[in-house]
Amino acid sequence: MEVVILAAGQGKRMRSALPKVLQPIAGRPMLEHVIAAAQTLEARRICVVHGHGGEAVRTRLQHAGVQWALQEPQLGTGHAVLQALPHLTDGDMALVLYGDVPLIGVPTLRRLEATAGGERLALLTVELPDPAGYGRILRDAAGRVVRIVEEKDASADERRVREVNTGILVAPVARLRGWLERLGNDNAQREYYLTDIIGMAVAEGVEVTTVQPDAVWETLGVNSKPQLAELERIHQRNIATRLMEDGVTLFDPARIDVRGEIKCGRDVEIDVNCVFEGRVELADDVKIGANCVIRNARIGAGSRLAPFSHVEDTVTGRDCAIGPYARTRPGTTLGDGVHLGNFVEVKNSAIADDSKANHLAYIGDADIGRRVNVGAGTITCNYDGANKYRTTIEDDVFIGSDTQLVAPVRVGRGATLGAGTTLTKDAPEDQLTVSRAKQISIPGWKRPVKKRAEK
Ligand code: UD1
Ligand code: CA
Repeated sequence: MEVVILAAGQGKRMRSALPKVLQPIAGRPMLEHVIAAAQTLEARRICVVHGHGGEAVRTRLQHAGVQWALQEPQLGTGHAVLQALPHLTDGDMALVLYGDVPLIGVPTLRRLEATAGGERLALLTVELPDPAGYGRILRDAAGRVVRIVEEKDASADERRVREVNTGILVAPVARLRGWLERLGNDNAQREYYLTDIIGMAVAEGVEVTTVQPDAVWETLGVNSKPQLAELERIHQRNIATRLMEDGVTLFDPARIDVRGEIKCGRDVEIDVNCVFEGRVELADDVKIGANCVIRNARIGAGSRLAPFSHVEDTVTGRDCAIGPYARTRPGTTLGDGVHLGNFVEVKNSAIADDSKANHLAYIGDADIGRRVNVGAGTITCNYDGANKYRTTIEDDVFIGSDTQLVAPVRVGRGATLGAGTTLTKDAPEDQLTVSRAKQISIPGWKRPVKKRAEK
């Protein structure tokens, strides 16, 4: 099968500089969702008809491996498919999809394809309580489809028909070519309607069949931001349902956002308002607290993220405790049993098993061994304004509070750094290293007092 995706429309009602088909659902352009569906169908060829903002669309989706056909100007849906014809092969079947109908389901499309067989025209139709705005499916007394009439061209009787055209169809390429070349624009909108091919098929004795989608929302199109938000919610609800069916506990399935792929082990729990981006893997028994943002991360079995933690490009071992209010940035690797407490930021660093930084610290470009205790207020000074340097902290080190480690610097195994130390040279193993002005007390010193106002 070959797939034509119509994506030339401007989408004025989005009121956005971003072309409509690039508006995101779950963080990916709508058009990318449609292309993904076509790829799942193992289409031999995917041709996207673009127009408005075409360059931006092509650039954004250049990795998709599709063919592009330019429609300029846009003279209707039939004219749009006509632009794709040079890319299509006679003898094959063509599926027409829409770049602004992003939730179309693969099982529905497989049924449409099967119904078309190798020679029929198969239409995806739905019954709507309020069919306003859609093309209506007109049938004869025997229930056979005879043609589609657009709302603007329909009589009052025809407008009462509640079975509407979703626009999605499958047809034999060779027939399609013949029909499209004969399309006229003698209608209310002066457009070349794709829907006029149905009447032509009937006249030629080509059987026209219809299929209904598994769910009506699959066929919903997006013309405005409210509709974009509505489809986003439907999509997120579907993801949430799938996660729960796989055994994940969601404290509220209406309050999770997955913008990418998430893989969960057994007995994972996710509290409300968490956002998952990119590829995220949560192993068995992972608990995610409320309001966490997790992007491209693997969280090891039994680990817990307390609320408001932000985790990005990070891999953790088992039984880690992160947050609340912790931030791990790209290149963070944690061993087993690592604790990162509130207001601890880690970047491009490896922290080995059972080490802890429980309060207020910045750990950047560091390699930290096992069983290290990083005191409150510890900072690795990794950047001199031009270059970045690493800090190495070996096993069993104890770093007192409010310590600065001016990289490059190494703290030897078992060393202790006294609170308030500014470490500029390596600290030897097993010794106490401290840099601190000596404490003095001044006897008889008096605290200044306020002068009395004169009367
Ligand atoms: C079309 C159908 C209508 C159906 C409805 C479903 C026709 C004539 N009518 O109507 O029967 O009920 O979709 O939503 O086909 N496009 C182009 N180039 C063009 C015109 C449109 O690429 O020249 C694209 C648009 O970007 C859009 C899609 O085709 O993705 C549908 O176009 P639109 O103008 O929304 O069609 P409708 O008038 O709603
Ligand atoms: Ca229109």
